[in-house]
Amino acid sequence: MRPSSSSCSSSFIYANLVLFLSFQATGGFSVEKIRSNSAFFIFGDSSVDPGNNNYIETIPENQANYKPYGLNGFFKEPTGRFSDGRIIVDYLAEYAKLPVVIPPYLEPNADYDYGVNFASGGAGILSSTNQGLVIDLKTQLEYFDKVRLSWIEKFGEAETENIISDAVYFISMGSNDYMGGYLGNPKMQHLHPPEEFVKMVIGNLSQGIQELYGRGARKFAFLSLCPLGCLPALRALNPKGHEAGCFEDASALASAHNNALKMGLLPDLQALLKGFKYSNPNFYDWLLDKINHPTDHGKRTNHPSTCFL
Ligand SMILES: *[C@@H]1O[C@H](CO)[C@@H](O)[C@H](O)[C@H]1NC(C)=O
Repeated sequence: MRPSSSSCSSSFIYANLVLFLSFQATGGFSVEKIRSNSAFFIFGDSSVDPGNNNYIETIPENQANYKPYGLNGFFKEPTGRFSDGRIIVDYLAEYAKLPVVIPPYLEPNADYDYGVNFASGGAGILSSTNQGLVIDLKTQLEYFDKVRLSWIEKFGEAETENIISDAVYFISMGSNDYMGGYLGNPKMQHLHPPEEFVKMVIGNLSQGIQELYGRGARKFAFLSLCPLGCLPALRALNPKGHEAGCFEDASALASAHNNALKMGLLPDLQALLKGFKYSNPNFYDWLLDKINHPTDHGKRTNHPSTCFL
């Protein structure tokens, strides 16, 4: 269900997120200070998986550690990223002047000192999405807590608290809940009308964010879902025929999720949780504009497959 290449790099998104992230790296003069105050944690699906799924038992569709992934890009070999090159969080880490590529949590002997990436291709916010084949949000949060506890042993409680509250938490997730978890799952559609399903996803995301907040996290960054119905795999499922263009029901779910996040959940959490900060760029409209007006962006043809999961 996912394209083999992605070109999501957007100066718009970077401007938003890097500004936010760069609080970290400018904090001090000594290397020691920068080191201890900069961390970047990532939770999500294949849009930001740097290779965690290389280490789990799953199906090939949930992995990207084989050719032709990665051959022409930055790493020149497959790494597990669902991309020919780097993924968005690699660029964010670089622009924020973090000195390392943030490693996958499951990579043996990884250096966690500047943060950890817990993302897993195919994963959803709901544990039922691709269950047994991915690292779901709940498990990603458990892994985060293990890292936090190991830091308390390593750096002490006070220092860990500082790092955690200064760190940025990037969450890019939800597409798989609506695709495989809902549109590809007649039983789920039978159980829950679309609005109710969106509420469930948002409710579980809210729980996840509040759990992180409870552990001391304060600075959050999100990426709105893309127009899911324009993915080639979903165009092919369009009941109006696969030549009919984007599958509107799928994009409508993504829109409903994005609206619930933007107008409901995030402002609500900001009102509720002291010190809660967030960035939430509008990836949906940004990408739809590229799909609808490819020539304005220096592309000769219309390649809608730039939306990844
Ligand atoms: C989280 O999702 C489950 C289904 O996986 C649902 O039963 C539960 O109500 C949801 N939680 C919230 C707070 O919405």
